[in-house]
Amino acid sequence: MRLSRYFLPILKENPADAQIVSHRLMLRAGMIKQSSAGIYSWLPLGFKVLRKIENIVHEEQQRAGHIPMLMPTLQSADLWRKSGRYDAYGPEMLRIKDRHDREMLYGPTNEELITDMVANFVGSYKSLPLTLYHIQWKFRDEVRPRFGVMRGREFLMKDGYNFDLTKEDALHAYNRHLVTYLRTYERMGLQAIPMRADSGPIGGDYTHEFLVLADTGESEVFYDSEITDLSFGDRAIDFDDKVACQSVMEEFTSRYARTDETHDEATFNEVPEERRRVARGIEVGQIFYFGTEYSEKMGAMVQNEEGQRVPLHMGSHGIGVSRLLGAIIEASHDDNGIIWPEGVTPFHCGIVNLKQGDEEADGACDALYDSLTALGFDPLYDDRKERAGGKFATMDLIGLPWRITVGPRGLKNGVVEVTSRRTGESEEMSPEQAIAKIAAIYEGL
Ligand SMILES: Nc1ncnc2c1ncn2[C@@H]1O[C@H](COP(=O)(O)OP(=O)(O)O)[C@@H](O)[C@H]1O
Ligand SMILES: [Mg+2]
Repeated sequence: MRLSRYFLPILKENPADAQIVSHRLMLRAGMIKQSSAGIYSWLPLGFKVLRKIENIVHEEQQRAGHIPMLMPTLQSADLWRKSGRYDAYGPEMLRIKDRHDREMLYGPTNEELITDMVANFVGSYKSLPLTLYHIQWKFRDEVRPRFGVMRGREFLMKDGYNFDLTKEDALHAYNRHLVTYLRTYERMGLQAIPMRADSGPIGGDYTHEFLVLADTGESEVFYDSEITDLSFGDRAIDFDDKVACQSVMEEFTSRYARTDETHDEATFNEVPEERRRVARGIEVGQIFYFGTEYSEKMGAMVQNEEGQRVPLHMGSHGIGVSRLLGAIIEASHDDNGIIWPEGVTPFHCGIVNLKQGDEEADGACDALYDSLTALGFDPLYDDRKERAGGKFATMDLIGLPWRITVGPRGLKNGVVEVTSRRTGESEEMSPEQAIAKIAAIYEGL
């Protein structure tokens, strides 16, 4: 993409209504535009990151054998009456009537819809285990939408649902999701800590929330500092191996880590004092096992091997896809702007031409751009007739992790400059070496 042809409405001033840094930077970098309280348009730059995050979520879910699909945003109230949640959900649910006066709602989540669907099609244990998921817009009429995409009213969520014959199988699905979530967040450059949580309106005994530590987080969290030393890394795991998944779950959940809802002072005090931490966190995901409650209400029964009809064991598992943009920025920025982790950056690198209109500089930039593009990379070339300072400030604000700076002076010596957004360090090298460096950085990502 050439910046002169892109749509990047950058704000010069700090927006007054944005209280936290991620909201401020998303507005300033031209990523989102509020259309009404808690509802945003995703401008091209923001949309690109959103898609990157979605792709990582898709890849990690499918790696574990979970099956993608798409359910509608509008649902019939009748289904929610069946589960008893139509009245229970309260004013957070946006209720709508169609022209025939039929009661509809904009889905805040999808347990009812999917359980009804599975009840329709699945009659035998032979079709199990089954985990279906989608990434779809949700609407919750939050009392206090705030912090930009962090607490929106309309937001994008990955929600997955497992259907199993036994509790043991469903707990394997729970552990499998825990593993996929660890991998997912790490690929986005985030440390998200599974913490024991409260099951809330969904119900059930087993639930963990994934929290990214950040001062601006809405949840108060209590944890043993040893937990921040853990990382899943690039271990290979067989998702059918119950013992292997269970042991990862135990490794990541055996230390004290709870949100304020489940915090227990006495148990916390058993952690050695120097390791006790009280902090704030952003909830970027949650997993649940809730047994047979929904399947009984929605009639999701299967025949087991003995020919008896039994209710399915279920769980649901959510990732806050749009919230993740805010969480990543909270975790990765400096005074000059965003610093995207390589896994989610909207463009792989920026190309800054210091002297637009200079034949040699233009030619070198075009050649770099073409070579990178031919290798499958997506560079953003700032080809505007602007001062170098302004171009650098734009690149820093939008947070591309790597910048290649091209100017007549360097070209005389056959070099361009490659700069890391994170460290600010620059290195001179030939254009060919710059391309090889970018390729090496993104290898395997
Ligand atoms: N209003 C919101 N705006 C943005 N993301 C949200 C919002 N509500 C929930 N999410 C994200 O969706 C994920 C799954 O939702 P869920 O656990 O059902 O939400 P909650 O815990 O708020 O009831 C949450 O972990 C969070 O990351
Ligand atoms: Mg939650």
